[in-house]
Amino acid sequence: MVSTPSKITTITTNSGLQYLPKLGGSIKESSPNQELLPLTAKVNNLDHLEIGGWDVPGLVEKFGSPLYIVDEYTLRTACRQYREALKQYYPGESLVLYASKAWNSLAICALCGSEGLGIDVVSGGELYTALQAGVKSEKIYFHGNNKSVAELNLAIETDCIIVVDNWLELETLAALKKEQKEQLQNPTKIMIRLTPGIECHTHEYIRTGHLDSKFGFDPNQLNDVFAFISKQELLSFIGIHAHIGSQIFEIQPHQDLADVMVDAITTASVHNLSIKEINIGGGLGIRYTEADDPPSIETWVQKVSTAMVDACQSKQLPLPKLLCEPGRSIIGPACVTAYTVGSQKQIPEIRTYISVDGGMSDNPRPITYQSVYRAVVANKLSEPSTETVTIAGKHCESGDVLIKNANLPVTQPGDCLVVMTTGAYNYSMASNYNRVPRPAAVLVGNNEVNVILQRETYQDLLNQDILPERITMGVQ
Ligand code: LLP
Repeated sequence: MVSTPSKITTITTNSGLQYLPKLGGSIKESSPNQELLPLTAKVNNLDHLEIGGWDVPGLVEKFGSPLYIVDEYTLRTACRQYREALKQYYPGESLVLYASKAWNSLAICALCGSEGLGIDVVSGGELYTALQAGVKSEKIYFHGNNKSVAELNLAIETDCIIVVDNWLELETLAALKKEQKEQLQNPTKIMIRLTPGIECHTHEYIRTGHLDSKFGFDPNQLNDVFAFISKQELLSFIGIHAHIGSQIFEIQPHQDLADVMVDAITTASVHNLSIKEINIGGGLGIRYTEADDPPSIETWVQKVSTAMVDACQSKQLPLPKLLCEPGRSIIGPACVTAYTVGSQKQIPEIRTYISVDGGMSDNPRPITYQSVYRAVVANKLSEPSTETVTIAGKHCESGDVLIKNANLPVTQPGDCLVVMTTGAYNYSMASNYNRVPRPAAVLVGNNEVNVILQRETYQDLLNQDILPERITMGVQ
């Protein structure tokens, strides 16, 4: 996690069952970001964890491990809860964008697209993937603080909306538009990203809204920015964007953001620019451990919508189209990572290490942000957790620890260990450190299992390698 580290609580009568979704049979009401396991998680008569109707150890037997398992129902529920809550609580037009940096791949972009969401992308690669997944460019918003000329050209050619971050980008964009061939001279839609100066209590690395941030224009630059834009015939200004951070449990910072955004509407109007869309970013936190207590998706949407309506009413402004762009709270709780337990090392009176067949290459968050996760043994779900162990990865790095002091039943090599809430910023930040192939991912839903990412092979690892012949000849 990236807010305050969770306390390690030892519950004497605990077992993996404690993490099953709260509402058991009536899963409809549950907000995915408040659960540790996907909404369809159950224990079956083998005492195994089941997700989307599939036996998790069985999936590992078939597809190998580590394995990312994505529950379609949970993912779709999160998308729908955002969409429906906006419809219910925001009287104006609205659109939910999925912040695909949390997990960008064809299937995940297409699934979110099929739920009516637009996609937030931050690189040419994410943009290309979203387009290949069939998402319409008019629903793709392109962020980034250092977009290359090639990326800007791709965005112009494909007609997506560019969220302009800084002066260089704005001037480059204006120049590129002037150079474009005639057929591309329809105006490119742009939004302006601003740094709202709002602090929130989250991990320093992922605070983006405070003034000391590499992202966006300072509010005091807006006058000049709007003056420049008002002279650009080939840029069509549609609105403003801000994002204040990630894994946020408080709602107040987002409520405060409404006032900052509405002030920008007033500044824009001085330059005869109208703000049609306001994008308040993402950031809603999720429950990684029982100590985490994020608001539900519905509550978050309700509060931010009301704040926006109030802010507009207080200045007698018409309601703009309201956009938000959650990533973590959409994909995070929908996925678990299943590993196979291997070697164990007991260091008397210090700790017991249990190693799994993945680690920091498939989940870099513990080593990067000291994020805390919880795990269950999927083939012994109801067995009491009687041991406190440290779950280590297989990488050649002492810090490659997935979970410190995990409470688990006694495990043996071959057991199926499942780390929960791994959908966000795991696959998308995965690497091939130690030349470990990246895992496969399966989507469970609709009574099917679909492989959505193939497991990398050793040959895949060599695909970009080039061995100059003069060096080959020297190998002894
Ligand atoms: N919009 C913008 C402009 C963003 O920068 C982000 C996340 C989001 C939306 C989505 O935020 P979310 O709803 O997922 O909180 N790698 C870090 C998280 C970095 C977040 C970057 N920006 C982690 O693993 O915790």
